[in-house]
Amino acid sequence: MSIELNHHNGENIILKNISKSYDSSDVIDDLNITFESGEFNVILGPSGCGKSTTMNMIAGLEEVTSGEIFIGETDVTQLEPKDRGCAMVFQNYALYPHMTVFNNIAYSLKIRRIPKTEIKQRVEAVAKIVSLTDYLDRLPSELSGGQRQRVAIGRAIVREPKVMLFDEPLSNLDAKLRQEMRMELTMLHKRLGATSIFVTHDQVEAMTLADKILILNKGKVEQFDTPKNIYQKPASTFVADFIGSPAMNLFPVNKVNDSYFDSAGNKILGRANIDNAVLGVRPEDIKVDSEGKIKGTLKYIEDMGAYQVLTLDVGQNKDFCINTTLGLDINIGDIVSFDILEENCHLFHPQTGRRISA
Ligand SMILES: Nc1ncnc2c1ncn2[C@@H]1O[C@H](COP(=O)(O)OP(=O)(O)OP(=O)(O)O)[C@@H](O)[C@H]1O
Ligand SMILES: [Mg+2]
Repeated sequence: MSIELNHHNGENIILKNISKSYDSSDVIDDLNITFESGEFNVILGPSGCGKSTTMNMIAGLEEVTSGEIFIGETDVTQLEPKDRGCAMVFQNYALYPHMTVFNNIAYSLKIRRIPKTEIKQRVEAVAKIVSLTDYLDRLPSELSGGQRQRVAIGRAIVREPKVMLFDEPLSNLDAKLRQEMRMELTMLHKRLGATSIFVTHDQVEAMTLADKILILNKGKVEQFDTPKNIYQKPASTFVADFIGSPAMNLFPVNKVNDSYFDSAGNKILGRANIDNAVLGVRPEDIKVDSEGKIKGTLKYIEDMGAYQVLTLDVGQNKDFCINTTLGLDINIGDIVSFDILEENCHLFHPQTGRRISA
């Protein structure tokens, strides 16, 4: 009889050539992904890109149009949801309103006819993990949003799942509570070791929670990688634009006409072996410097306390953003000089948008 919850290492979740269409529209297009055992994976992408559809196919709530899904060694493609060993937490985690916290968490064990004494022990162990020990006798209506969220998580983990699926579970919470829940989820994951997939369109959630982030765009993989690589080596302009705040500055450059210099005064593009490209540089990677060779006119300034976001007109069609911690005393219309260093530049293919070189 388990009193403490078991720590398992989870199981690999493998998607092989997974496609999904509704009538005429293709929602997921030939997805090939392995979510490694015990890892915390985040699926990130704009509304409608297929995040929930992917999760629902793994959980068995949606059928695949073609392809196979494996959990560990088992082909689960045709299995019922209840036979897949996945626990799911949704955005609208409907708790049973007339049941206490204890009974909400215990429910799935009761319907499996697990003995009463074992149910009590398991619910108490779970309550400890999600910090609800003192709330077991309350009704959901007597709890805060964060506490209700923790009941939903408790209800999911009490069955000791090998796979945990979360579909935007924090989106109803305020900023502070979200941050607390992120921390709790991370600790919970370390403790349980279940392979986890977490859907969000919040990049901060993705960056802070994930071992790996899967970025989806219109049902296709843009990049599946560690948060560090997603940020430092975005595989495409889509990823570059999606992660970072404000977004990476992206603009077309031409080897012959555009003069972007490195700190030594050399043309940056002189060394790229392509004539046209899209140059990307993050707002926080640009150094404001009165001696700088590139100049822009200040259009807008936002003071964030720890740093300022400058929006400049540099003669392109697009705004150019710089994050600076210098605490500048400047006004709209002033000229700002800066440099772009080669080591901070990202180059992308002008047609495909894919990253060029390392
Ligand atoms: N039952 C359905 N019939 C037809 N199209 C559907 C159906 N369910 C979802 N879709 C479409 O599939 C696409 C992907 O939907 P999905 O719910 O997976 O998006 P999502 O990435 O989870 O978006 P969000 O961030 O808004 O939750 C959308 O364009 C949606 O309109
Ligand atoms: Mg969704």
